[in-house]
Amino acid sequence: MKLLTVVGARPQFIKASVVSRALRPVCEEVLVHTGQHYDRNMSAVFFEELNIPKPAYNLGVGSGTHGKQTGEMLIKIEEVIFEEKPDIVLVYGDTNSTLAGALAASKLHIPVAHVEAGLRSYNMRMPEEQNRVLTDHISTWLFCPTRTAAANLKKENVTRGVDISGDVMLDSVLHFRKLAQENPQKAAIYGQIGIRPKQYRLATLHRAETTDGGLDAIIRIFDAFEKLPQPVVIPIHPRTRPLAQQAIAKRGYRNIKLIAPVGYLEMLLLTNGAVQVLTDSGGLQKEAWFMEVPCITLRRETEWVETLAGKWNVLSALETDDIYRKAVETVPDPAARESMPFGDGHASERIASILSQYGV
Ligand code: UD1
Ligand code: UDP
Repeated sequence: MKLLTVVGARPQFIKASVVSRALRPVCEEVLVHTGQHYDRNMSAVFFEELNIPKPAYNLGVGSGTHGKQTGEMLIKIEEVIFEEKPDIVLVYGDTNSTLAGALAASKLHIPVAHVEAGLRSYNMRMPEEQNRVLTDHISTWLFCPTRTAAANLKKENVTRGVDISGDVMLDSVLHFRKLAQENPQKAAIYGQIGIRPKQYRLATLHRAETTDGGLDAIIRIFDAFEKLPQPVVIPIHPRTRPLAQQAIAKRGYRNIKLIAPVGYLEMLLLTNGAVQVLTDSGGLQKEAWFMEVPCITLRRETEWVETLAGKWNVLSALETDDIYRKAVETVPDPAARESMPFGDGHASERIASILSQYGV
């Protein structure tokens, strides 16, 4: 059985690292990188650190408007499918690479496996919501990270091929956190930034919804960070970097430590050592939850509703006062953590086992 996996963006490399490890003993995997992310610290670093096999194809699509980026991927993925003739195409999450991979395969009647199926924000203005809804409706296997995700699919009458497999990002945290903690080179990250564990907060910002507000939106967020009692470390995504730099130049913030994006192992250490995470990232919200670090999500909604129980994750408007108040006042309830809503840490093996049965 030949499986063609399409990845392109940072969180997909992380997810693919654990799923690919489970898949390779049971099938032939052809890895395709669309090139959506291409900076060294957004792409190559993950392949090297997480031991992900070198992609058989790098389509070099790069950045662009949604139509141009997705369209170019669609054309190039189709060519690879003609060449490789896979039995299954596997996609992750909700990026333009996800939709392009799923659509290219589906049009050629190649069954699609979607890992992280069923997530919904119910905000159709988000490109991610459009990508995930469309991908789910053309997938044959829908691997749901949570029961909520499967229930969301049921509401859309999608029940065939749905499996509550657990979250592959939990597999990944369980596997790599230990490796990170045992690696003195990675632990040097605290000293390099000039911080100490449990004496800083960690933030990331990259959603279109955040950056679409322009410099004013970033200033409103950073004004809140400036008032917080601990420094705020921000490994800044390249989408947000120019606005963040302009905000710092204009306002002269002293409590914000802007750094380049870091590798996954360093990111796990930074998350584990933070007193709090503030983010608009989907993946980071959950990693904070896995590591029992309180999180303020800088969005109006979250797909990961399980994390909201007991205020382990709290939503905040992109307004200075709301962010500041929630960041300093929220005290999570240790008793309110549902046991294992994200599975048992073996989602990848389960997915590999189900896919390996195809055609048998
Ligand atoms: C994409 C996904 C988003 C996901 C995120 C993970 C879509 C629509 N969005 O958002 O769901 O959460 O990846 O990080 O697919 N850039 C660089 N270097 C890079 C990559 C990007 O400079 O290596 C800059 C470019 O200016 C680019 C911008 O970042 O235009 C946005 O990149 P893009 O891949 O379009 O979207 P993300 O914000 O990364
Ligand atoms: N991440 C990383 N280095 C960074 C910032 C994030 O390795 O500098 C990891 C983070 O730990 C998580 C994933 O990237 O596993 C989340 O990706 P991102 O926030 O870009 O996308 P999302 O999850 O929102 O789609």
